[in-house]
Amino acid sequence: MSQAPIDRGRWKTRIGFILAASGSAIGLGNIVFFSANAYKFGGGAFYLPYLLALFAIGIPVMMLEFGLGSKTGRAFPEALHIVAGKKGEFVGWWGILNAGFLTMYYITILSWVLGMLIGSFGALWQPTMAVPAFDIPEGVLPTATAYFFQMLTTAKPLIFVVIVWALNVLIIRRGVQSIEAVTKVFVPLMWIFMAILIVRGVTLPNGTQGVYLLFTPNFDVMKDPAVWQGAFSQIFFTLSLGFGTMVAYASYLPKNSDLAGNSFVTSFLNCGFEYLAGLAVFSVLFAFAIVPQASTLSMMFFIVPQGIAQMPAGVQLFGIVFFLLLLIAGLTSSVSLIEGIVSALRDKFGWARGKTIAVAAGIGVIGSCMFALPQVVDPGLENNGTIGLTLLDLIDHWVFSYGLLAIGLAQCILVGWVLGASKIRAYINENSSTRIGPWFDVLIKFVIPAALAFILGYSLYNEFQNGLYGMAYNENYREGAEFMRAAPVAVLMVWFLTSTFVALLLTKRGNYAQES
Ligand code: PHE
Repeated sequence: MSQAPIDRGRWKTRIGFILAASGSAIGLGNIVFFSANAYKFGGGAFYLPYLLALFAIGIPVMMLEFGLGSKTGRAFPEALHIVAGKKGEFVGWWGILNAGFLTMYYITILSWVLGMLIGSFGALWQPTMAVPAFDIPEGVLPTATAYFFQMLTTAKPLIFVVIVWALNVLIIRRGVQSIEAVTKVFVPLMWIFMAILIVRGVTLPNGTQGVYLLFTPNFDVMKDPAVWQGAFSQIFFTLSLGFGTMVAYASYLPKNSDLAGNSFVTSFLNCGFEYLAGLAVFSVLFAFAIVPQASTLSMMFFIVPQGIAQMPAGVQLFGIVFFLLLLIAGLTSSVSLIEGIVSALRDKFGWARGKTIAVAAGIGVIGSCMFALPQVVDPGLENNGTIGLTLLDLIDHWVFSYGLLAIGLAQCILVGWVLGASKIRAYINENSSTRIGPWFDVLIKFVIPAALAFILGYSLYNEFQNGLYGMAYNENYREGAEFMRAAPVAVLMVWFLTSTFVALLLTKRGNYAQES
């Protein structure tokens, strides 16, 4: 039996906690996925479901996660263990494993960002090149796109993966102490960079058109459950909920930390940033009449750079600012994911921080490298050109659209029904300057579980009615890449079986100190 480690660390200041929590929330999700989702669902159609999801789901679940972490003083699995025993712990580990998958590919994306950042000092803006690996002649792809795919077919991203992991390890090596120090610099810097981009965007001719698209509502699309699923997943993802991240961060809070207030501030900072980022991205797209593609990664790697390349002046400067912003915003999020995993393992096994980080980073580097595998499988670039990109797209589908919401649902049921929503609310109220009313209980016990269960059921039904995600890629794969044809099923199995069996294993092994 292992003892919970005594030295878990504490946030030094309230502002330090808020910067770290909002740094976790503000990430690639805000700058890229939000714009891509908003575009996919028709701009104005997205923000009503989004706002509703923010108030009815996002903020209450954040309060719940802050409450859970602060009350138990433990990371996700043990926190849920204290609430609901072994079955709670199992849900916690399931969440941590999903966080593990997300961390792996999130860092791969960051490694591409690093590659693009290096490119934006020069090569990225050179005249367009051919991409021989994809049978794509010169002049067909815009420069940034060609540069990106050229890079993807080399082993360079594997080196970038190691660098980005090393940066993460550096930032979390002293736990909250070093995280607090770094986010204090990075998070304000992010706001400054965003301010530069937005002023540039909306002052471009026609830039304000993009703002209209984002704010003109379209009520027709809202009948489509897909819009709601998009909005719910986006809210969970962007607020860093469902993967134990906020629970871990809140477990380092001293008592009386104004949990309700901190939930509001963190959520508003995040969603405010997200809207600003949306305005910046949409204004650039409209100014240069670029038609975005719905695919999320294309938004960050080719569409926005394509706009920047057409700016009247300062192309290099704005390019560097954009990719640097992505990199630091992504780093303050990836460290929170890793910290959530590391603290869960330490709570369970009592390992030293250094050893835990070494284990997590060792496995993580291998995983991230998988998503950076450069072999070309789709030479026509109909879908995802390389093995790495295909695997990333497939796993993201399950983690983002199902994992997040499923864990959110389980968490609301465990805390709402097994512990009792009114108990966690009483705790939050004791440790807050504002009081939250019984509406919280209604949301946590009934409204949120019902909404999540409906959306999950509906999506699963569709998934199996209309064909498993990714099956349509098959036709485009190059001969000799037959093994990739099995990828959609294989990735689904790996995701589901690994999450389930490893979570069971971790739950079964040993007991927490509290149990005795
Ligand atoms: N919120 C982060 C983003 O928007 C991603 C994230 C999700 C981080 C879950 C931690 C946990 O990019």
